[in-house]
Amino acid sequence: MSGSKASSHPDRYLLAGVMGSPIMHSRSPRIHNRWLAERGLAGHYVPLLVTQDGLEAALRALHPLGFSGVNLTIPLKEKALALMDRVDPLARRIGAVNCVVVAPDGALEGYNYDAFGFLAALQERAPDFDAGAGPAAILGAGGASRALIAGLIEAGSPQIRLANRTFERAQALAAEFGPRVAPVRWEERADALAGAALLVNATSMGMAGQPPLDIALDALPPGALVNDIVYVPLETDLLARARARGLRAVDGLGMLLHQARPAFEKWFGQRPQVTPALRQEIEATL
Ligand code: ATR
Repeated sequence: MSGSKASSHPDRYLLAGVMGSPIMHSRSPRIHNRWLAERGLAGHYVPLLVTQDGLEAALRALHPLGFSGVNLTIPLKEKALALMDRVDPLARRIGAVNCVVVAPDGALEGYNYDAFGFLAALQERAPDFDAGAGPAAILGAGGASRALIAGLIEAGSPQIRLANRTFERAQALAAEFGPRVAPVRWEERADALAGAALLVNATSMGMAGQPPLDIALDALPPGALVNDIVYVPLETDLLARARARGLRAVDGLGMLLHQARPAFEKWFGQRPQVTPALRQEIEATL
């Protein structure tokens, strides 16, 4: 697929944004506007309040308005898949689009960089982590979980133990993603940690306003990595308990920051970095 590049047209103001509902909580405008400013690029990344009903018209308006593309967030990622002219194979496997690229001819291309963001965040915080070295345990079977599973399969994970409160959803994902995904009953989630190289929380538990994730970590081996995709608060009860046990713990902000990098590159032709200064700026808003 051909991504649109920052046009050299002298009268072009670079535009991108994030569509969703609600939208004003999104940190993506800060991330992308900082990168645009750092590069001296004239442009803006804007929050766009778009509902499911308005999604198709909003997407079709991107080309005439001169947008390079948009990110999509709740509740639009799944619905957008059917509205794309072309869909990247990984986005199709995940079943959701989180980045739309407007091609020069106006065609809409759908990508999903959540899996990339998840793996890049682990790589940043634990450079020696090897997804192929041992089984992973994932808690949760929603949209976020699908991106993690697709990413871990691509990264060579030998087995993904998938525990979910509603067991049938874990079974459905196992049927879809194949034999490397082993569904686990919620009552047996602590046992699924035995010998695991990685534990990821992909449920909404532990998020501000929600009860903490209820799981005993005793079965995790000493070298295991614990990752929470929740980033408000940054230090969840799960991560605090992992650290208290001497395990390495990775917060959820890295996934958000890193998924933005390939999107920015697709739209504007340059791949930015996640610097400590960027992380600090976003952390200060949490
Ligand atoms: P997302 O797209 O962010 O992944 P989601 O599709 O709503 O959001 O998924 C939320 C996940 O959190 C689900 O796995 C959900 O479990 P169910 O499939 O049983 O609904 C999980 N979850 C939410 N509240 C939970 C709770 N109190 N205990 C255990 N799991 C919970």
